[in-house]
Amino acid sequence: MKRAVSGVQPTNNLHLGNYLGAIKNWVELQDQYDSFYCIVDLHAITIKQDPKVLRQNVLNVAKTYLALGIDPNKSTIFVQSQVPQHAELAWVLNTIAKLGELERMTQFKDKASQHKENINMGLFDYPVLMSADILLYDPEIVPVGEDQKQHVELTRDLAERFNSAYSKTFLVPEPLIKKEGARIMGLDDPSKKMSKSATSANNYIALLDSPEVAAKKISKAVTDSGSTIESGKDKPALTNLLTIYSLLSGKTIKEIEKEYTGKGYADFKKGLTATVTEFLSDFQAKFNALDDNEVKSILEEGNKKARAIAEKKMVDVKTKMGLI
Ligand code: AMP
Ligand code: TRP
Repeated sequence: MKRAVSGVQPTNNLHLGNYLGAIKNWVELQDQYDSFYCIVDLHAITIKQDPKVLRQNVLNVAKTYLALGIDPNKSTIFVQSQVPQHAELAWVLNTIAKLGELERMTQFKDKASQHKENINMGLFDYPVLMSADILLYDPEIVPVGEDQKQHVELTRDLAERFNSAYSKTFLVPEPLIKKEGARIMGLDDPSKKMSKSATSANNYIALLDSPEVAAKKISKAVTDSGSTIESGKDKPALTNLLTIYSLLSGKTIKEIEKEYTGKGYADFKKGLTATVTEFLSDFQAKFNALDDNEVKSILEEGNKKARAIAEKKMVDVKTKMGLI
């Protein structure tokens, strides 16, 4: 079976962008791919974290994966720091990654400008660690949102560079980025992506937002000029809301546009609110029903499975490089 690998950082609350851009696709892939979904806590610490909160967030992301439909009988859910080979391979890849190519990474530039007081080496090296996360498992595909494309391209470059220096060792993976949902935009500003680190909480709908809070955020969401409900290049706000509506309801954007012909923004937002709150209520009921100890044992199982593969790959890498 072909393999898929992806991950999410256990920082703050996951939001609709994380679900629609990435995790929703993971759920669909788990029948066709041997899937490895990681909770990337070593990535999270590139921004300062409160240890207690981080520990809780790791568990919350695991619960989020499960409540969104990642099935531990089909997919492997695991924690990055529990598989030491991730950090080990990252060091090895550091010796072939170039300063110049890392300096070009837009996520680094964004995060460095947001956290000027803490531009640490880990933040700079983040994409190399991500390459290690991927290459340890030889996946064919890496299902992510649009913002991660550049990192997966770097991963491909590093894999090819290593293979040509030391003979074929890594499979060169492809990013899998869905057309719809790959870049969910902020509700308060449709020119910027929906982000957990946005300054205003009105930017995103967190998966753990209460239906009341989500409804308020939708009512405040900016819209475009005009009064018809339609998507288009000149209607970035509506296109974004229609995309969210469509992906959560399973209706096409065309069907939704038709449903609201002759109706205004108020009706449209009412329908969108109903769809979003139904999704959130269902998700949160599943999330809250999960038992901490059960989730921890699912992670233990996943860590073991991941470790077995990562250990083998690291032996191969070290042997090829002349490391004992
Ligand atoms: P992160 O929150 O940075 O750990 O991202 C986890 C996953 O969600 C990655 O695959 C991202 O590409 C995806 N993602 C994050 N924000 C968005 C967004 N606004 N739209 C679509 N996908 C997103
Ligand atoms: N860098 C990704 C993000 O910020 C998260 C991530 C870490 C990841 N390692 C990965 C995604 C490996 C896919 C594969 O969203």
